[in-house]
Amino acid sequence: MQLPKQVKIVEVGARDGLQNEPTPVPLEIKLGLIERLESAGLSVIEAGSFVSPKWVPQMASSAELFQQINQKPGVSYPMLVPNLKGLEGALAAGVKEIAIFAAASESFTQKNINCTIEESIARYSDVMTQAKQQGLLVRGYVSCVLGCPYEGEIAPERVADVARHLYEMGCYEISLGDTVGVGTPTKAQQMIDAVSQFVPVEKLAAHFHDTYGQALANLYAVLQRGVSIIDSSVSGLGGCPYAKGASGNVATEDVLYMLNGLGIKTGIDMDKLLQAGDYISRHLQREPASKVARALSVAG
Ligand code: HMG
Ligand code: MG
Repeated sequence: MQLPKQVKIVEVGARDGLQNEPTPVPLEIKLGLIERLESAGLSVIEAGSFVSPKWVPQMASSAELFQQINQKPGVSYPMLVPNLKGLEGALAAGVKEIAIFAAASESFTQKNINCTIEESIARYSDVMTQAKQQGLLVRGYVSCVLGCPYEGEIAPERVADVARHLYEMGCYEISLGDTVGVGTPTKAQQMIDAVSQFVPVEKLAAHFHDTYGQALANLYAVLQRGVSIIDSSVSGLGGCPYAKGASGNVATEDVLYMLNGLGIKTGIDMDKLLQAGDYISRHLQREPASKVARALSVAG
């Protein structure tokens, strides 16, 4: 068993974490969160999305937000884009990196972006062509990789097929989302085995939700397969507007605690990360979903 020596953490709390919040989170709070994540040492902070404000109202202020981020050298701030209109908005705001988001389930794709998987690939291919012309970096997501809230089981081959399309069109990294958090470790490994036949494992990110309490076990399982990029959300913020009942992304604090224990480097400072989690949890008037944050706040 060989584990990576270093892991890149992609912090998705400001986007995936907050997109489902029913009450608008003020811009200055989002900026305060991003600032604290930067000072904790996170080098990739997904900040928002250029999607329809009717579909996801919480992300409506993403252009203003992006423009007001006090960008730190060496940190990237990817923004989600579902179509050419979203790309236009991202370019106008000066975004340098976008993420396109597909899914391995037809029903989820329909509910999430109102088209079929095939249509989504065609749409994203147009987005990719223009994004490349403008020199943008493009990350790709595949959702429902270990199960779908509408269709149940998803075969690893279906995940591999969508991931291959995104990789072949030019995504530099493919993030594999267990959107509803139903996966278990062997299934997670089988899914990685299927996808890595088409996309090199060093380009794969694990984006796991903790709905069934399996996220850390699944992460440990895919680390053993050589995955070295993990998406997580400070304080375990999140859920998905189109995946009812899905709880948050695995908490960044919990991932960091596990990686520290395994001797895997991340460059992230736990104390400062806890401060970022505390800041957003206080604003939301909610206990952090992170077990590590709860344990350390009692201990400290
Ligand atoms: P549609 O209704 O089919 O779009 O939605 P349309 O092209 O027919 O346009 C309808 C209206 O939306 C028009 O406005 C457009 O201008 C506007 P109207 O004429 O009615 O005033 N519109 C837009 N406005 C702003 N930005 C845009 C945009 N596009 C159209 N980009 C659409 C299709 C894709 C827009 C919609 O379904 C949508 O915004 N979906 C995004 C949903 C979303 O953000 N979901 C959460 C993402 S999380 C996820 O996918 C999982 C992930 O986190 C990984 C994981 O956890 O597993 C990535
Ligand atoms: Mg997610």
